[in-house]
Amino acid sequence: MALDLFSPVNLGAISLKNRMVMAPLTRNRVTESGVPQAMNVNYYEQRATAGLIITEATPISAMAHGYPALPGIYTDAQVVGWKKVTDAVHAKGGKIVIQLWHVGRISHPTLLPNGVLPVAPSAIKPAGQAFTYQGLVDYVEPRALDANELPGLVADYVHATKCALAAGFDGVEIHAANGYLIDQFLRDGSNKRSDNYGGSFENRARLLMEVTKAVVAVAGADKVGVRISPVNPFNDMHDSNPQALFNYVASELNQFNLAYLHTIEGDMMGKENTFDFDALRKLFKGAYMANLGFDKVRGNAAIASGHADVVAFGVPFLANPDLVERFKTDAPLNVADSSSFYGGTEKGYTDYPFLNA
Ligand code: PHB
Repeated sequence: MALDLFSPVNLGAISLKNRMVMAPLTRNRVTESGVPQAMNVNYYEQRATAGLIITEATPISAMAHGYPALPGIYTDAQVVGWKKVTDAVHAKGGKIVIQLWHVGRISHPTLLPNGVLPVAPSAIKPAGQAFTYQGLVDYVEPRALDANELPGLVADYVHATKCALAAGFDGVEIHAANGYLIDQFLRDGSNKRSDNYGGSFENRARLLMEVTKAVVAVAGADKVGVRISPVNPFNDMHDSNPQALFNYVASELNQFNLAYLHTIEGDMMGKENTFDFDALRKLFKGAYMANLGFDKVRGNAAIASGHADVVAFGVPFLANPDLVERFKTDAPLNVADSSSFYGGTEKGYTDYPFLNA
């Protein structure tokens, strides 16, 4: 029988009952301590019929924050809070990995310890405004990281990975996409360094490879995924040769035997691009997760053609906790309310109805 979204699959050590992945979604509904609460447990538990849940992007340290009301994965209290999430998802037969996040320059001093400047590969202020507790404010020029600070940064990823394992996650996803810190190193619009971390593809990918190597050493490669977004301009990003850069990145990641590579296949704003994602996919030897605007028909086609092993759905899972059942039965989908995506209460979070509810 042909493979489709409902076929089981293994991503490294993580066995999925179907190929529908809940994409990471920032929801800004955690207390300032970054500790998941009962409402957050309920939200993830409701979606445990997904083959795999990827949590909202989660800061790995106090310096990794860039928005209000994010969770964290670096304190003991956060581990205890997340353990309630993983226990609830596992009790429902689901699998869940946590997305490890450092925002780099997409932050603001009011969101950082002692009001320090955000850090980045280079001191280049992104266009646009930061979401702070005081509202939207212009981004500031970040402080360029010194090369001798990077081992400490890698250590923060290792610490967060240990916390994630202690919290019972089935694995971790390294966020190297969407204009956040690792992506700021990868793409040459935000990386103007002249040391070993700037210039050539090898140099710009060095931080990603160092982080991946260190996280793999702690978690095991078969529990680690990496997320990239080769042509997403979100967060004022661009690169002079994205195809060659990300072909290099996908090939270099083969050395680790990762659980999966997760790719945002285009521009989140919907602009057309000419990037050849099939070529990138063929260069990567492990399991491949495709993301961006998929529906049931396109998801099944991506799997049947061999382009993707699994497909990640964002907004459809946000608005349909039982998305798998709805796809299986061709039931109508709930309409997402974008005004409650970021921040708020249970409304627009845990109150989307199930079928027959
Ligand atoms: C967001 O909060 O808007 C956001 C976070 C992480 C992403 C993309 C968008 O990868």
